[in-house]
Amino acid sequence: MLETLLKERNLPALMTMKDGSPVTAENWCARRRELLDTLAREEYGVMPEKCGETTFREIRRDRIAAGVAVEHLVEVTFPTPDGASFTFPAAIRIPDIASAENPLPAFVYISFGFPKYDPNEELANEGVIIAEFVMNAVAHDGEDHYATLLSPHLFEDGKRPPDGTGKIGMWAFAASRLLDVLLTFDCVDPARIGVVGHSRLGKTALWAGANDERFTHVFSNDSGCSGAAITRKKIGETFPRIANVFPYWFCENMQTVSASIEASESTDFDQHFLLAACAPRKVYVASASEDDWADPTSEFLSCCAASPAWEILGLKGFVTPDRLPEPWDTLAEGNVGYHLRPGTHFLSRHDWIRYIRYIKQ
Ligand code: GCU
Repeated sequence: MLETLLKERNLPALMTMKDGSPVTAENWCARRRELLDTLAREEYGVMPEKCGETTFREIRRDRIAAGVAVEHLVEVTFPTPDGASFTFPAAIRIPDIASAENPLPAFVYISFGFPKYDPNEELANEGVIIAEFVMNAVAHDGEDHYATLLSPHLFEDGKRPPDGTGKIGMWAFAASRLLDVLLTFDCVDPARIGVVGHSRLGKTALWAGANDERFTHVFSNDSGCSGAAITRKKIGETFPRIANVFPYWFCENMQTVSASIEASESTDFDQHFLLAACAPRKVYVASASEDDWADPTSEFLSCCAASPAWEILGLKGFVTPDRLPEPWDTLAEGNVGYHLRPGTHFLSRHDWIRYIRYIKQ
């Protein structure tokens, strides 16, 4: 059944190199580079360059989560291409049981700011570290003509080249800089580091994780259009709509790709390329059953379509029964994980609990 549903989407071939040769375990690295280059050029823009060492300074320390974890408020500073530097705040929350002898898994969490639900107690009790920063402290989530925060350090006089990064790329870049900091803590287990984001930040988590191989687990929550969801025949939000309403999330070239539904459905890529660019690392996609704007079916089918990237490497890809998922389904056996939560567009306790389980399994 799933094969038929996938065929109807008429996807560009993931497992064929640009020169027409088949993708194998031997040329996977080169194929991954092709996927990332295509997505950078056509959609998100080229990732900013890392120009030197990231440093941080602790501002404040508080006991949290009913007294079993410590929150370190820090300022993260990194050098920028214009010869200056950029600083943004972050919170690193470490359960007391973490130590060099007992290193714990960690999440870099790209957040909207004041979440309705924060999983600090669950994380502390389960022994997981979280490092969180707020997107608007790095790049303004609105049309600022690239004149505020990180943007002017990247583009002179706001002049962004056609493949210059959009805001999604800037947030993703900041996630990697926070990861630089996290990796200086000897109580962090570098073999279990996830990046997590919801919705526009789920798109960001995927782009961050696809690019930065130090993220061993990539978690995309309800990321929808230009996130996990396949674009071809997607319901809800479409490429033309997203590129029109949120042009600053993407590079300028995305405007051509999304000039019409026809244009966006005849590109040489689709969003399963983004998931596949995480292979051989783990990627996990979560959907909510009432989130038609994001389109759970297109998010799920993307996992199916990306799976061959793991399989060619001799790994378990996406393990699913041959049917569409039902609410409450969690498919976490393979290196591609998925769950369908009942309910609306949100990063909920249900989602976090499954991310914690997946990174610890
Ligand atoms: C809008 C947008 C989505 C995005 C969402 C969010 O609904 O159309 O693409 O995921 O905002 O970030 O909350």
